[in-house]
Amino acid sequence: MNKVLIAGGAGFIGSHTADLLMEKGIKVRILDNLTSGHRSNLPDEHPLMEFVEGDIRDADTVKEVMKGITHVVHLAAQVSVVASLEDPEFSAQQNIIGFLNVLDAAKNEGVKKMVYASSAAIYGEPHSLPLTEDVPMKQLSPYGLEKKFNEDYADLYYRLYDFNSVGMRFFNVYGPRQDPKSPYAGVIALFMDRIKDKQPFVVNGDGEHTRDFIYVRDVARTNVAALELTYHGAVNVATGKKTSLLDLIDVLSDVSGNDAEFTHGEPREGDIVHSLADPSRMNNELKVVAETELKEGLGKLLDSVS
Ligand SMILES: NC(=O)c1ccc[n+]([C@@H]2O[C@H](COP(=O)([O-])OP(=O)(O)OC[C@H]3O[C@@H](n4cnc5c(N)ncnc54)[C@H](O)[C@@H]3O)[C@@H](O)[C@H]2O)c1
Repeated sequence: MNKVLIAGGAGFIGSHTADLLMEKGIKVRILDNLTSGHRSNLPDEHPLMEFVEGDIRDADTVKEVMKGITHVVHLAAQVSVVASLEDPEFSAQQNIIGFLNVLDAAKNEGVKKMVYASSAAIYGEPHSLPLTEDVPMKQLSPYGLEKKFNEDYADLYYRLYDFNSVGMRFFNVYGPRQDPKSPYAGVIALFMDRIKDKQPFVVNGDGEHTRDFIYVRDVARTNVAALELTYHGAVNVATGKKTSLLDLIDVLSDVSGNDAEFTHGEPREGDIVHSLADPSRMNNELKVVAETELKEGLGKLLDSVS
């Protein structure tokens, strides 16, 4: 691996992936338009890093930044399910046209491997748990459908051009740099923000909803492993462990030493009650096991915001 383009590299998952690649001595070029990411997520300067402010919707920009690149991590996206429902055209421009610009430029440049963000949202309402990659799926939002299109496009490029890629079906990722002020921040960033500041908050529904939470550094390790190996396809990126929102609040209270003050609100419409992955493919094909326990990961998150 000589030089990796990280589209969306100033974002939450992207900046941790950039850190890990640079720790391994690999050069990175970041392309980001800083809509939901922050320049401050990356070092001001680093001998192995180049930063380009630009937009994946602009095919010429993408072609230009692809020059000399050997591997791609594509994470730039409109990341909000709600925004995709409110403005599907805007969402598709980012998540379909933008994706295609990156995929096509990578193929034309002779890039050896592209790793890109898919999502657990492609499964829609699960029929049975834990979710394996090959279950039938019906997406519940334009965002989920866009990620499915990404996987189908990537697969078409594999069949047509032998272009090798891995779609990373991220489950609920948490850790430092996830912006709790964003209206779409993960539940962990939101709850941690409240509990740390001893502020009350609302839990939608009874709190028995469960999620498969994975620490961001484990996600970065999985992205890098997918770049290094020849495996092509789609992979759940998850722990295979379920945590209810009430369990999560207990652990957050424990690591912060603060009592959580919360009330229950109406369940959010359209919220999936249980989500849990089977991570066997990640473990066996990419040879990565998520190693950060929830308590340890939450402790690191707390340290980063204290
Ligand atoms: N965080 C999660 O739990 C999770 C779960 C499933 C899927 N994902 C996917 O993983 C990827 C990364 O998510 P994240 O949580 O790091 O979000 P993020 O918002 O922190 O990162 C996305 C980055 O892409 C950049 N970006 C957005 N539109 C762009 C454009 N048009 N051109 C160039 N840059 C653009 C943003 O500025 C940001 O830096 C996304 O594709 C998201 O859909 C994340």
